[in-house]
Amino acid sequence: MFKRSVSWPLLVAAWLAAPAAWAQEPIKVGMLLEMSGPFADLGRQIRDGAQAYIKAHGDTVAGRRIELIVRDTTGAAPDVAKRLAQELITNDNVDFLAGFGLTPNALAVAPLATEARKPMIIMNAATSVITTRSPYIARVSMTLPQVTAPLATWAIKAGIKSVYTLVSDYGPGIDAETTFKKTFTAAGGKIVGDVRVPLRNPEFAPFLQRIKDAHPQAVFIFLPGSSEQPVAFMKGFAERELSKAGIRLIATGDVTEDGMLEAMGDTPLGVVTTHHYSMAHNSAQNRAFLKAYAEVAGSGARPNFMAVGGWDGMAAIYEVVRRLNGQIDGDKAMEVLKGLKLDSPRGPLLIDAETRDPIQTVYVRRVQKVNGKPYNVEFEQFPDVSDPGK
Ligand code: PHB
Repeated sequence: MFKRSVSWPLLVAAWLAAPAAWAQEPIKVGMLLEMSGPFADLGRQIRDGAQAYIKAHGDTVAGRRIELIVRDTTGAAPDVAKRLAQELITNDNVDFLAGFGLTPNALAVAPLATEARKPMIIMNAATSVITTRSPYIARVSMTLPQVTAPLATWAIKAGIKSVYTLVSDYGPGIDAETTFKKTFTAAGGKIVGDVRVPLRNPEFAPFLQRIKDAHPQAVFIFLPGSSEQPVAFMKGFAERELSKAGIRLIATGDVTEDGMLEAMGDTPLGVVTTHHYSMAHNSAQNRAFLKAYAEVAGSGARPNFMAVGGWDGMAAIYEVVRRLNGQIDGDKAMEVLKGLKLDSPRGPLLIDAETRDPIQTVYVRRVQKVNGKPYNVEFEQFPDVSDPGK
């Protein structure tokens, strides 16, 4: 049976040692992340944010070591995500499922979390409906309706009366479009046109021309952050000279997220967005986060809201492990997560006990250079915002 000889006494000794080894078993966090392909930056940001939390807080909680097991979904690939989640549950026996940059991957895994009674921590995926798909899901990121509604309110106040919307044609984009239209028109604004672009390889040029021809006062956009898409959009926006035609750009903060902002040149300067996190947020918690992130990702690295999602997701997991004294049970873990308050680098964060979605401050920010580098500088805030549709 054994090709190489293994002595029986050795095997017996290993077996006898097993209970002690079990006591030392780490708490395993199975992270499903987009680590390759066009959305690889989502995975990298979330993983580095999670690792930064471990770096800053130590890798042991309630006597148990915390181990991250990262698996690559390769992009928006529900079948791959499902298979990897099944392996993490069955082969690795993980205590938590976590990560999830993209909505389709989170939706695909939700039924498996329910079946296996594994807490599933959403560190980014932001389509509103996700948390309704399993009672084992808790989200520490945001929902698109939550960050979009304040922008529509702000736009009306800023005197914008007509808007053309452009969004990515899948869950979060549709949530953003629906919420913007609803809030903006209810306050007297007019939508003069809308377009949805594919999630994979969108071409912006023809749509930008159409928007220019429609002469709205502003274009509202949602595109997935941490990807090349906002960079490509900004390039087209500049080339077609929409600004010169008097068209303002407004967006959710996904579009001007801190990680890709430098790659966009001067085009986003002055653009107003709403979101829950900015690298420029002035707090001790954010400074501690930036320091730990730099230690993990390098001093020039710019963490965005997804990295903060990774950090806060780990903060939530640490709190569960602490309160359950290292003995993880899916149902008990959910009881800890419901109503959990975190002192996040973004500001105060509460996981709503009913919806298991975040309640948090949404900031209005303007892209500005600070010490020669572009940042989202906060200038107004909406405190305690929940998903308006829930
Ligand atoms: C999502 O797929 O849910 C998603 C991706 C990128 C974002 C926001 C939401 O910036």
